[in-house]
Amino acid sequence: MPRREFLRALATAGAGGLAATLAWTPARARAADYVASFPDGIKCGDPGPRGAIIWTRVPGPADGVEVPVLWSVAEDAAMEHVVRGGIARARADGGHHVKVAVRGLAPDRWYYYRFEAGAAASVIGRLRTAPSPGSVPDRLRYAFASCQQRNASYYVAQRAIAHDDVDFLLHLGDYIYVSDGGTLTLDDYRRDWRRFHSNPLLQELQAAVPLVAVWDDGEFYNGVDRTGPPERLAAARSAFFEHMPVRRRRDDRIYRRFRWGRLAEMFLLDTRSYRDPEVPANTNIAGLIDGQDSALPPGEQMFAPGRTTLGVRQKHWLKDALRRTAASWRLVGSSYNVNPWKIVDRDTPELRADDPLLQRNGGIYVSNEAWDDYQAERRELLEHLIAYGVRNVVFNSGHTHIYLASELQPDFDDPVSPVAAFDFTTGSQTADPDPRTIAPEDVLHLAEQVMLDANTPYLRHVDLLNQGYAVVDVTPEELVVQFRVLDTFDPDAEARTAARFRILNGGRTMDVELLP
Ligand SMILES: [Fe+2]
Repeated sequence: MPRREFLRALATAGAGGLAATLAWTPARARAADYVASFPDGIKCGDPGPRGAIIWTRVPGPADGVEVPVLWSVAEDAAMEHVVRGGIARARADGGHHVKVAVRGLAPDRWYYYRFEAGAAASVIGRLRTAPSPGSVPDRLRYAFASCQQRNASYYVAQRAIAHDDVDFLLHLGDYIYVSDGGTLTLDDYRRDWRRFHSNPLLQELQAAVPLVAVWDDGEFYNGVDRTGPPERLAAARSAFFEHMPVRRRRDDRIYRRFRWGRLAEMFLLDTRSYRDPEVPANTNIAGLIDGQDSALPPGEQMFAPGRTTLGVRQKHWLKDALRRTAASWRLVGSSYNVNPWKIVDRDTPELRADDPLLQRNGGIYVSNEAWDDYQAERRELLEHLIAYGVRNVVFNSGHTHIYLASELQPDFDDPVSPVAAFDFTTGSQTADPDPRTIAPEDVLHLAEQVMLDANTPYLRHVDLLNQGYAVVDVTPEELVVQFRVLDTFDPDAEARTAARFRILNGGRTMDVELLP
């Protein structure tokens, strides 16, 4: 339907009279009648300067009948000044989802959007466009988060993000958790997505804040890598694209980039699809933490050249993009932590001075299937940044359920190795598990001190106790990260800033401020 005709129809007919404006077949009318609500809520994703992707799902009969869904984008929250709209079709073979790439909007502003199907209207959501590519915005404020297991925790972090005045939420994966043994087929994955979507606090967040999402392993099964069963991986990917406002490309590639004018460019990584299998653990420290001992097989594989988490194509893309971008800040979303994370350090400046044959970067590492398993690739990336003088590279990471802040050096056990980038890892959105069931609070604080000592000087902060998310404020002068924490067992919890980190434009170090 041409846009002008659509707008006139919308104005004169309203939502209830939409049927009269369409050439209804009886089958379509039945399908429309069947739609009672939007049980997964609505989402807006991947803001660009001219538009964004909007998404919803309308349950319909599973007999191949298409459900027509009206979408509209307005300048005002009352949806009176509609500027874009159309009819999308929810198809049973696509899981009845609707995904529309809205185009033709003005850059750098908020809009509102809504879906209607039959007599039912969705809630009104907020849509954000990015600033135009040549502009120099004075600020960007976004949140990043990961790991929203459904358990005894309330989704209070999700509510807090919705009220934290951010331009978008970067979600680094584990948006859902499937059953390792019980989620196998596409229908299984769809069922799990819908179960997570049914949370009203998540729906409130989804409607309020644009989403920029990548997957981790929760969307597939624990520990997923490139060697997984192809049919299961394909089912998990299909379910992700059916339920997320992310464009599906022919090759299912989700690593991608987007700009916030000349202030920042964000590079989103897929650490899972192309990666070699993790290095197994071989040490268990006091029954608390699995470790990988670099002096023993299989732990020594961590240093093997050629091991990859990005795959060759993505690695070249990332190195090239980070070097060429004209943006002041280069933000990288990595589903899991980039920083080195040891429990026992066997490569200190003193030991290295005494023993020229010492294993470089040796020690016992926390086994959490992250970038430590791909040390040669990480070093190559960081050396590349140093070689080309690429500054202001800040990773945002998830997966650990533990807050971490680090400076990244190509050789992190050499005190004069330059800081090439920074890595901030957010804690989990829900307590999964409640850390206090693992050890008393003072023991956890003791463990934090052990980790800081074993990862001197690059690990600047670790928080084993708290849950929440992070907020990043970016200006031309500086980048400030706040770790926003809350008690997820308190249904009325409000977020507070537990730690704040400041990096100056061009800076090679971060200021750390801990708040009581
Ligand atoms: Fe997780």
